[in-house]
Amino acid sequence: MLLVFGSINLDLAFSAPSLPLAGQTVLGTGMSASPGGKGANQAHAAQRYGLATALVAAVGDDDFARPALARLVAAGVDLSGLQRLPGATGCAAVVVDACGQNQIVVAPGVNLALRQDAVTEQQLARARALLLQMETDPAQNLALLSRARRHGCLTALNNAPAATLPAAVLGALDLLIVNEGELQRTAAGAGLGADSPAGLLRAIAALGPARVVLTLGAAGALAWDHGALLQVEALAVQALDTTGAGDTFSGVLVAALVEGRTMADALARARTAAGLACTRPGAQSAQPDRAEIETALAAGSG
Ligand code: RIB
Repeated sequence: MLLVFGSINLDLAFSAPSLPLAGQTVLGTGMSASPGGKGANQAHAAQRYGLATALVAAVGDDDFARPALARLVAAGVDLSGLQRLPGATGCAAVVVDACGQNQIVVAPGVNLALRQDAVTEQQLARARALLLQMETDPAQNLALLSRARRHGCLTALNNAPAATLPAAVLGALDLLIVNEGELQRTAAGAGLGADSPAGLLRAIAALGPARVVLTLGAAGALAWDHGALLQVEALAVQALDTTGAGDTFSGVLVAALVEGRTMADALARARTAAGLACTRPGAQSAQPDRAEIETALAAGSG
């Protein structure tokens, strides 16, 4: 079982010919509301991939809670640890341009009130891995990491949105997943000097996580895996909407590792799932299931 601790949002997504500049108003071409939030997206991706997944997260007591949960419920994610707290459900304003690029602002709402003691010792004992992100209170992540370590869980963090990570967090991680901006923020926060991406992955690994994965969008991904450097190309797709592609990658990567796959094999599955997710609109609504991922892999396009 994979345990995800993190955020749930309702995404209000606007499509527009271009992303607005500061002070600019852009007339959009459409709008939709759909489930999102990095924690929820990663849990949904892992469950769709076929790994039993539990999400401990919070929604508010407003009208956004129900639509924000809809796809998690439909996919069968274990929500027995869901917290219903007084206040607003997390909400994200997402703008997607004609090239599929996006801009996102998140109002975290009750995500910031989520406490790590919502995770039971029993859940940690059952979990093979714990996957975290940075849309909840960072102090809760640190406390939960320590508990997960005591249970022998594989510990993974997607440092998104980018934050400075205390040495104690890096020291408690088995796997760190970052994009280019998040890599720079992680490295600067750890006092590391300028270096190549591979050099930074190696230097961060020396501070704790034996595995550090860098997602590079259309250029694929680079991974430092117990002293070896691995590289994978991106799936060749026409990107319609990249919202949540990194979440799909993280959820499937960790799910595949929990299944016992090698890092190279897990990377192939993660980049295939993320690539497929870019061909459809939305975050969870775009995520492929295991059959689609396997078909793309077998066709050689994965
Ligand atoms: O990573 C994409 C996600 O970021 C969106 O679903 C949005 O809710 C924000 O959390």
